Amino acid sequence: MIKIQIPATSANLGAGFDALGLALTFYNYVEIEESDRIDISASDGLDIPTDEKNLVYISAKDLYAVCGKKLNGLKLRQTNSIPMARGLGSSSACIIAGLVGANKMLGDPLSKDDLVDLAAQIEGHPDNTAPALLGGIVTAVFDGRRVQWVKQEVYTKLKFAAIIPDFELKTEEARACLPKEISHKDAVFNLSRAALFSASLLTGKFENLRTAVDDRLHQPYRMKLIPHCKEVFDIAYAHGAYASYISGAGPTVMAIADESNTYFAGKLRFSLDNAGLGGWQVHELKIDNEGTKIL
Ligand code: HSE
Repeated sequence: MIKIQIPATSANLGAGFDALGLALTFYNYVEIEESDRIDISASDGLDIPTDEKNLVYISAKDLYAVCGKKLNGLKLRQTNSIPMARGLGSSSACIIAGLVGANKMLGDPLSKDDLVDLAAQIEGHPDNTAPALLGGIVTAVFDGRRVQWVKQEVYTKLKFAAIIPDFELKTEEARACLPKEISHKDAVFNLSRAALFSASLLTGKFENLRTAVDDRLHQPYRMKLIPHCKEVFDIAYAHGAYASYISGAGPTVMAIADESNTYFAGKLRFSLDNAGLGGWQVHELKIDNEGTKIL
């Protein structure tokens, strides 16, 4: 069987709604093999779709269709560490696993660019799928068909704390609460900050990050769907975070801190517990620069 490792991702990075995302050292694994029937299971007993509604299967089938082939069945073993519907790219990890696995089974007919395009077409936006495939921080523009992207590897003295609540927030719901239109002023507010984020991350001007993650496109609306979100931001800043933002569509809150900020995750844990937020988990992560790998 082909064994694939796919990283979690954090999209938007504050102001870069649907455009910026990065990969993190937190992984799902998928073993995949062509078969004459559908045989899907989770190695850890997690409740996943085991029929043709499985997203890894759908994505593999889509790639076969694009290549003019028919997929009769698939044997899949999934090990899902990335929690579902938490804003950490679990759907994108499934899409990328299906595409990379299917492409390998067919002898790699599609290029990396083709895979980035097809993944964005399936997901609807590229800011999780592209970094899940490519790693690093990815800037992407999607016209509905093609993605123009730049991947940059990041070697910083930063650590990321994913602060994950014990409830799910479906992306559809988190998108449905957004306004249809925004003002010219708010557009300028966001585009300047999105540009500031990647430039500051890549040049080490970390003191800019707090301003860079502020936005007027999605976080003010999504906060209302995430009880205690503002409190969690405040806790992260009280412990010296450079920045704190809603990861992807939420509800996970991401905090970015300096490597020299010792026991950052432990301090967050302590304060969350004291605030009665014991249900929120804290995972300390780094940026993954490699993206999806066949092991
Ligand atoms: N950019 C997307 C959003 C990421 O915020 O809705 C979630 O898929």
